[in-house]
Amino acid sequence: MTVEHVEAEVTPPPKEAPALAARGLWRRFGRGNTEVEILKGVDLHAEAGEIITITGRSGSGKTTLLALLSGFDIPDEGTVTFRGEPAGEVPWSVCAVLPQALGLAEELTCAENVALPLRLGPRPAAAVEAVVSDVLGELGVAELADRYPAELSFGQQQRVALARAVAPRPAVLLADEPTAHLDPASTEVVLTLLRRVADEGTAVVAVTHDPAVRDVADCRWELDGGVLVSG
Ligand SMILES: Nc1ncnc2c1ncn2[C@@H]1O[C@H](COP(=O)(O)OP(=O)(O)OP(=O)(O)O)[C@@H](O)[C@H]1O
Ligand SMILES: [Mg+2]
Repeated sequence: MTVEHVEAEVTPPPKEAPALAARGLWRRFGRGNTEVEILKGVDLHAEAGEIITITGRSGSGKTTLLALLSGFDIPDEGTVTFRGEPAGEVPWSVCAVLPQALGLAEELTCAENVALPLRLGPRPAAAVEAVVSDVLGELGVAELADRYPAELSFGQQQRVALARAVAPRPAVLLADEPTAHLDPASTEVVLTLLRRVADEGTAVVAVTHDPAVRDVADCRWELDGGVLVSG
């Protein structure tokens, strides 16, 4: 047998499943005459280490799509998998979310909000405190650690909600308008953080209207007419 024949018979190792894979996602709202089709067969792949942006006009279905990806909502058709496993109830270490509505727990301080997903994991309490303090510091909101969300501006709440999402070093981060309430300096801080977490292996999917976020993306999509087109 020649060298060429031997090489031809070697089976390449299986390609690792993508961090996130969505196939054929459909979402309809209403019934009968009032039914509207918001998503019409969306396919999306996100690999570890890449930043993907999704733009689209208001009402095009961006938040609806993130809700399906995160498991907050269930598609009428289609599947979502994380590293090849069905989405189901994956922990925040697999898929973490920065919701458009931020969703901080009002009865918890900022530090307690950020610590919440970490406490569900195996980390000892001292390690949790260190992670919380580091990530709040990186986002420039360390001095707000003991305040409650109602005592913060929207921009401050946004950074605390982002800190909560990235603290567990999730495999996938779904961020809905991560810079919506921020000034240019804070936007830069957030973009630096998104790049860092991506470089450390997180797949970042960010819905955005902000050109500054698009600029740091590795891959850009636009949601148009219920499907993703090159953005
Ligand atoms: N639970 C629901 N019931 C009925 N219609 C809904 C529901 N959720 C969303 N919609 C509709 O789906 C469409 C897409 O909404 P979505 O929030 O996904 O838009 P979006 O692209 O995120 O917009 P924005 O940029 O303003 O945040 C809108 O027309 C909205 O009214
Ligand atoms: Mg939205």
